[in-house]
Amino acid sequence: MELCDLKALNWRGARRAGAAAAEAALGLDYLPIDTCQRRVAICNGADMLSLVRRQFPDDGALESFEGADAYAFLLRFAAGLESKLVAETEIFGQIKTAWREFCDRGSALACQLSPWIQLLFQDAKEIRSQHLSRLGSASYGSQTRRLLGDEAGAGPTLLIGAGQLAQSVAPWLPGSELWLWNRTRERALELARELAKREPARPLRVIEASADAELAAWRGARNVIVCVPGDAVQDAARVAAWQQRAERAGRVIHLGLPADGAAPWKGLPGLVSLGALFEMLQLQSEQRRRQFERARRACQEKALLRSLGATSSHPHSWEDLAAFDSL
Ligand SMILES: NC(=O)c1ccc[n+]([C@@H]2O[C@H](COP(=O)([O-])OP(=O)(O)OC[C@H]3O[C@@H](n4cnc5c(N)ncnc54)[C@H](OP(=O)(O)O)[C@@H]3O)[C@@H](O)[C@H]2O)c1
Repeated sequence: MELCDLKALNWRGARRAGAAAAEAALGLDYLPIDTCQRRVAICNGADMLSLVRRQFPDDGALESFEGADAYAFLLRFAAGLESKLVAETEIFGQIKTAWREFCDRGSALACQLSPWIQLLFQDAKEIRSQHLSRLGSASYGSQTRRLLGDEAGAGPTLLIGAGQLAQSVAPWLPGSELWLWNRTRERALELARELAKREPARPLRVIEASADAELAAWRGARNVIVCVPGDAVQDAARVAAWQQRAERAGRVIHLGLPADGAAPWKGLPGLVSLGALFEMLQLQSEQRRRQFERARRACQEKALLRSLGATSSHPHSWEDLAAFDSL
């Protein structure tokens, strides 16, 4: 597969559960990557691109990239430069998981894309280490820990959820004890086992999966980190339980909540939503902004080098880029 045949679509919208399976059934051969901020599709050739495009809503939020531009976009995406939490690291793991699952389905595209995806992973790691490593950690976990501050150690921290986000946040959470609650208790137990392997001395408690046990934990925790989507009924009960606490210190950090405005969370003392967390991070220093800019330029340069030298590891020297006015 030549780089000119690489096509990528980027739709900035909420993910649709089960969409990948439904589309595989339609016989469309493309690599879907779903995150909470976007859906990306990667395919081979213009004909497939026009078929895949029809699977996306026609709402003006769809961007299309081809050839070196597609590679540059995918590199920015993998390096976290397209994320609202700029330079976050979780996205790389999500892309690797999507790629592994896609390869397991054994389509022709998986073979065709493989050299490009390997280069993409290699280039993304290089961009991160050259341009983004000195920024300090930018993960949902590190930001959550920063928000909770040193006082979090004064009481238990309750983590709601045991999915992808909860797994990445859990190791960062401070607190005298970490309480885990998840709708499916087996997944909370699995997360507890993983955490115990990493930090055997950490006090952990897995809460019963019932709604009552969850609400009792809300009333007893100092901080609560929510890593599940909103739920109209249970959220009202969660807010009520939080407000019943005798001890008023502490925070609710709700990473499944796009903005503060949504009822019943609106106005809750100590609440930080995912939307608010993004806003805080937008107030980044000028130095961070310049570093991101350099990293974005490096993505463009790498894509151009790849378009010159196909799939070898070091196809051309950086001096070759001088030939291009665009840089
Ligand atoms: N992944 C990220 O990088 C990221 C970043 C920012 C925000 N978010 C947001 O965080 C939330 C979780 O994302 P994720 O990536 O961790 O998803 P995930 O891997 O699919 O896990 C979903 C989690 O939510 C739980 N859940 C789903 N529906 C529920 C319901 N109705 N009631 C109670 N629990 C429910 C699941 O419980 P079971 O185990 O019982 O299914 C699981 O713990 C989403 O709202 C997502 O938009 C994710």
